[in-house]
Amino acid sequence: MKTFLKIIGFLFLGIVYTSLNCQAQSTINPFQFEIKKKLICKNGAVVSAHALASQAGVEILKMGGNAIDAAIATQLALAVVHPSAGNLGGGGFLVMQLQNGSSKTIDYREMAPASSHRNMYLDENGNAQFDKSQSGHLSSGVPGTVAGLFASHKYARLSFEKLIQPAIELAEKGFVISEREASSLNGLKQEFLKFNTVTPDFVKETKWKAGDTLIQKDLANTLKRISKNGAAGFYEGETAKLIVEEMQRGGGIISLNDLKNYRAIEREPHIFNYKGFTILGMPMPSSGGLLLHQMMKMIEKKPIATYGFQSPQAVQLMVEAERRAFADRAAFMGDADFYKVPVAEISSDKYLTKRMEDFVPGKAGNSQLIQPGILPAKESEETTHLNVIDKDGNAVSVTTTLNNSYGSRTIVGGAGFLMNDEMDDFSIKPGTPNMYGALGGEANAIEPGKRMLSSMTPTIVLKNNKPYLLVGTPGGTTIPTSVFQTIVNILDFEMSTEDAVWKPKFHHQWMPDRVDLERGFLPTTRKELETMGYKIVERGSIGRTEVIKKLRNGKFEVIADNRGDDAAEGW
Ligand code: DON
Repeated sequence: MKTFLKIIGFLFLGIVYTSLNCQAQSTINPFQFEIKKKLICKNGAVVSAHALASQAGVEILKMGGNAIDAAIATQLALAVVHPSAGNLGGGGFLVMQLQNGSSKTIDYREMAPASSHRNMYLDENGNAQFDKSQSGHLSSGVPGTVAGLFASHKYARLSFEKLIQPAIELAEKGFVISEREASSLNGLKQEFLKFNTVTPDFVKETKWKAGDTLIQKDLANTLKRISKNGAAGFYEGETAKLIVEEMQRGGGIISLNDLKNYRAIEREPHIFNYKGFTILGMPMPSSGGLLLHQMMKMIEKKPIATYGFQSPQAVQLMVEAERRAFADRAAFMGDADFYKVPVAEISSDKYLTKRMEDFVPGKAGNSQLIQPGILPAKESEETTHLNVIDKDGNAVSVTTTLNNSYGSRTIVGGAGFLMNDEMDDFSIKPGTPNMYGALGGEANAIEPGKRMLSSMTPTIVLKNNKPYLLVGTPGGTTIPTSVFQTIVNILDFEMSTEDAVWKPKFHHQWMPDRVDLERGFLPTTRKELETMGYKIVERGSIGRTEVIKKLRNGKFEVIADNRGDDAAEGW
């Protein structure tokens, strides 16, 4: 039986939906639902960016599905109800710990098309053309999400048709949108008109408002083709043809062969220990696991708990760890299938201890002086996160993305889904920052078939080899630093899970050399940081972090970020 500790929710006003005239199998009511920010349950839990997607996952758990089944259903539902980030036309990373004690990751990051080349976004004078890498047809990498869902299905229990059914119904019959969703659709109307050859369902004459129903018939048909034909329902046949036709109408370069050749890849997790906990993260082409490893090890030996949460000492220490890890990201990290990333070297205790030798308490570091580390020998907004756990001990942490909000803003005509603008995550010109200000060079240069470096950090923390914390968030380069802070808040500062997630965060990424503080950050600490010599920039929300924590009594505590419409569900 579930006990709700605290529910911060609201009911959408809408028509109460009845399913008398259709063969709906899903019990989800897309016209009336609440958003739960915190709950405790014992049989299984899902937390994601949208209440209907979390419900879809829990419905699957109740049908006998495991955490992997539920993660697949939740992602498919997000592709419908959270179109700014949930997707079919993007990519992602999944980290899982299975009930038999083994762990795996699945890389379904987008891939550079076969006819891409390293200078494809430079004009004749060698200047970077961000308008081409950040929106429209040319900004898309070959999508990986559908391949990833099928690669994870190997570990699931139920048929794929069952897992995709809630998404099909949500697309076909529609769902009510929130104030936040209405305003983001209204805000992007001109972009949707500019970057599309066929007017998408997101555009209507009058303004969207909270309580309106969003119906996506073309998307429903694409989902039905996937249900019927498996991954080939996306990468071949009608859907592939629609993608390629859309690319050709808008100057994109993804071909039928690119789609047919796309593969999700199962990889060994990036694993490290922190104060007796085992932390599982993504390996390359996500920098997330390695950055988290570097940052946590750089602070592990310092008595950070005695400094206190958001104390100037603790924030300064963490900022300096963030700075150094991001300097290494720019120099050494990229798709390890194409570039030799010195993972072992830059995560060794010796290297990381050395990296912090020039840390001076009370004095701001300087990114001109603190460069990427010296290798021991010569040897390189919009995203969404979800966590699922089941009663058998399976745990899944997934982050997927279109890159920025609504990706390239291009919707595949007749197929109803958005394409990503992930090509901008490559270093399109060495030394020129991408949309998140991240720098890169050779390690992350464009090459056909290569996957662009990511910051996504889906993470599972194990205690005694069993899932203890599931953590992740969107937020571009702020992802690894938000995950870092959330874990330290729980493990070191012993904060309540909701405080660990909801309290303001900070961010440093080496370049630009400044500390971003989230609105509401402790003013006294801000002042002290300024006195130490830090340049401070205040900003809006950092991330939308979702956490599931296993409690001592065996129950699951589920926390959805209050920075968005994110919602926890469980039973
Ligand atoms: O893979 C990455 O690092 C980025 N494409 C993530 C983008 C993102 O998180 C945007 N969300 N707010």
